[in-house]
Amino acid sequence: MQSKLEKVKKVRDYPIGVFDSGIGGISVLAELISEMPNESFVYFADSANAPYGEKTTEEVKRLSMAAANFLVDCGIKALVVACNTATSVAVNELRNKWEMTIVGMEPALKPAVEANKNGKIIVMATPVTIKEEKFSELVNKFRDSAEIIKLPCPGLALLIEKIDSVGVNHEQEIEHYLKRVFEGISFNDNDAIVLGCTHYIFIKDNITRIIDKDVSLFDGNNGTVMQLDRLINGNRVMKKKNADEKSAVIVEMIDSCKFIEKKENSEKILLNSLAKLNFRGRINFI
Ligand code: DGL
Repeated sequence: MQSKLEKVKKVRDYPIGVFDSGIGGISVLAELISEMPNESFVYFADSANAPYGEKTTEEVKRLSMAAANFLVDCGIKALVVACNTATSVAVNELRNKWEMTIVGMEPALKPAVEANKNGKIIVMATPVTIKEEKFSELVNKFRDSAEIIKLPCPGLALLIEKIDSVGVNHEQEIEHYLKRVFEGISFNDNDAIVLGCTHYIFIKDNITRIIDKDVSLFDGNNGTVMQLDRLINGNRVMKKKNADEKSAVIVEMIDSCKFIEKKENSEKILLNSLAKLNFRGRINFI
């Protein structure tokens, strides 16, 4: 028989599973790696089924369960749903099904409201996230403290999926989209934008360029990373931080779309995101 302590020690070596409909969650993965460089990670991009944000709730639920199932079968110790859309639709069901630590994404409305006392707050997210109950509940919490504008962005995640390994290679298309979606909103200095979809983190510069005002951008990545850190630390399944700074972080990138270019592109996007975070460690892709 295995003692509880032996079991905990064994689980400590398991990887952390992360999934999204595509490349968006790579921005979350990069922050996870820089915060927890002694952990290993397996990332699942369900790009064969992207975008999630324009499907029915039932479809997103089914795809999220399937993605989580796949990662659980890989032998993970914790799951990060690095997708606002999947979180808003499926996180409760995922938690009902599995006992392991499961952390999701939430649009960073709270920090945006706290930082922007006077300006209005525009929340960009997929149509599914915006229409889900979870999001309405979040908005209701803050509706007396700020003017909140919900901005569904159909098609934007798919445009961002075309990103190449060194950044956005079709800026014109993206900026044209942004101009159209921002039409009718008068931005002022002190306004804030909440990026309620992990894909949008890759177009921060384009958003700032198009708005051309002193608007702050908020995303939920740090909140999610901190939450995971707290939970796996509390369960004693976290590896010691900085125990061995020389060893490389083991990362496996898996895509439901089987083209090898997809995998290679995702790996490059991850390295690029890590460089932007000034991450100095090494990554060992398996
Ligand atoms: N990256 C996802 C999110 O955070 C969804 C993009 C999509 O597949 O529509 O909402």
